[in-house]
Amino acid sequence: MKLTRRAFASGGAAFAAAASLPNRSFGQSAPRVRRSINALIKEKSPIIESYRRAVDVMMNRDVTDKTSWWFLANMHDVPEQEQAQHKSLQSYWSQCPHKNYFFLSWHRAYLHFFERIVRKASGDPDFSLPYWGYEDPLQASLPTAFLPDDDELPKKPDDEAPPIMKRRNPLARAKRLLHVERRWIGLGDVAREVKATLALDHFATGDELEAQNAFGGMRTKDPLTPGATGGVEGAPHNLVHKTIGLQGDMGSPETAARDPVFWLHHANVDRLWVKWTDPARGRLPPLDDDVWMNTKFRFVDEDGQDRVLTAAEILDNQFDLGYRYDDEPQRPQKLDLKGPAVAIVPGGPPGGALARGRPPGAASAPVVVARSPQVRLSQRESRIALAAPVGSAQPQGRLAVLPQRLRVVLRNVIASDRTPPYDVFLVLDGASAAPVRVGALDLFGGAGHLGHGQGGRPDVEVIAFEASDALAQLQSAPGFAMDRVRVSIVRRAFQSAVGGEFLPQDPDPPRIGSIELLRS
Ligand code: C2O
Repeated sequence: MKLTRRAFASGGAAFAAAASLPNRSFGQSAPRVRRSINALIKEKSPIIESYRRAVDVMMNRDVTDKTSWWFLANMHDVPEQEQAQHKSLQSYWSQCPHKNYFFLSWHRAYLHFFERIVRKASGDPDFSLPYWGYEDPLQASLPTAFLPDDDELPKKPDDEAPPIMKRRNPLARAKRLLHVERRWIGLGDVAREVKATLALDHFATGDELEAQNAFGGMRTKDPLTPGATGGVEGAPHNLVHKTIGLQGDMGSPETAARDPVFWLHHANVDRLWVKWTDPARGRLPPLDDDVWMNTKFRFVDEDGQDRVLTAAEILDNQFDLGYRYDDEPQRPQKLDLKGPAVAIVPGGPPGGALARGRPPGAASAPVVVARSPQVRLSQRESRIALAAPVGSAQPQGRLAVLPQRLRVVLRNVIASDRTPPYDVFLVLDGASAAPVRVGALDLFGGAGHLGHGQGGRPDVEVIAFEASDALAQLQSAPGFAMDRVRVSIVRRAFQSAVGGEFLPQDPDPPRIGSIELLRS
C-alpha cells in the first residue's frame, strides 16, 4: 500500500463515458449467466478452458499494455517499487476502495471490464466470469481448476518447487501456500459469516462503531479514504483473502488480483450483494447519497480505451451490465429501486436492525465500562484483562444487568499487511466455561496505515464487535462474575486434511492501543 495515494479523480475530459455498455432494454437479449465454478468443473465446461486461455494470453502481455494481466491487477493495488518503475501509469493504479462503502460498487465495475477483457482475449464470445460459492461447505477450499499439476508441487512445505510462471495451468500461476494448493486447509466456517452478513439490514453507516453492521460499509468522502471495515467486506471477503492468501498473493491488496482466483472470489462477493438487495424490505444501496452514486471510477475496456463508470450506472446487474448469476432469476424488468428509503444508518445504532448478535432495541448512549492498556499480540493467545476507567461512575458490575448491548472495541489498531488471521473471544478467567467468539480479525491490507495526509502519523483504526450474545452466554456459565470477563485474541489455526493443524507464524504481531467494553 502506498504512503501517498493521490486524491480520487473527479472526472476529467480524457475519460469518455462508458458508451458501449450493453444496455439491455425490455424484450432484448437475455443477460449472460455467471455460473458456479463447481458446476463448471463437474461438467468440464469449455468456460474453464476459455479462462485458462485468456489468463495465459494476458499474462504474456507487457505490464504497459492496458489489457495485460499485470496492468489490471495493478489497478487494484501494486507494490510500491513496481509502481515507481511506471510513473506514467500511476493514475490508473492502486484504486481499490477498502474500509468504506465504495467497496461493492467499485469492485463490481472492475469485474465488469475485466470480464470483457477476458472474453476478448479468450476468443470465446460466450465467456462469463464464474463465481466461487464458498458458502457451500463442500466448496470451502481452493477450486480444483486452480491447482497446479501434481509434479509441479513440492511434496513437503520446505522442498523446492518449480517456478510458478512455468506451471502448465495458467490458473495456478500465483503465489500460494503449499497447504492451500494441496487443499490441506480451507476456509473453515465461512458459511456462518455469509449467513450473518446476509442478515444485515442496512447498506451504509457514518459511524465506525457500526461499520460491521452495515452490509456495504462505512461512508467516507471518496474511495481512497478508509473508514472502518464493513459487513460483507470483513467477512466473508477479508477472511477469504487472508486464508487463501496465507503467505501468498491473495493475502495483500497489492498482489491479490494477480491470483486468477481473486476474480471468482469477487464474483461471489458481487453475487452476495445481488442476493442481499431487496427493495421491498428497504435493502437498497444509498440512492440518495450523491457521493456514493456519482463518484467516477476509471477503468479500461477490452480495446484499451479509457472508461468511466459510476455506481448509479451499475445498480442493476441485469439491465445495466447484462449479466446475472445462475441462482438469480432473470427479471423481466429493471430493478425497481423505489423501496422504503432507509438505506443509510444514521450516526447512532440502526433502529431495529438485525445486527450481528445485537439485541434489538438497546440504543442508549454508549458508555465505556472497562478498558485495557496497550496490547501487543505476541503470543498465540493474548488474554486481556480490562478495568473500569478511573473515576468511572459506571462500575463494571453494572454490566451484569441485561438486556443491554455490549460491544468489544479495539482502538488504534496497527497491523502489518502480512498479519495472519486472528479471532476475538470473550472468556471467563479461572472458570471452565468455553470462550465465546465475537468475531474474526482478518486484517486485509493491515491496519492503521501511515500516511493518508495525516503528516506521517498512523491512522486511527477502530474495529468494533457485537458481544451482547457472548456476554449472555457467559453469564449463564458457572462461576460468572463480571470482573472475571477477559477479551481473548487468538491467532487462528487451520485444521489440516492430513491431520493436525497449521498455525501461521506472526513475526510482526498487531498492536492495539486499547480494548474497551462498550455498553449501550
Ligand atoms: Cu479490493 Cu478482495 O479486494
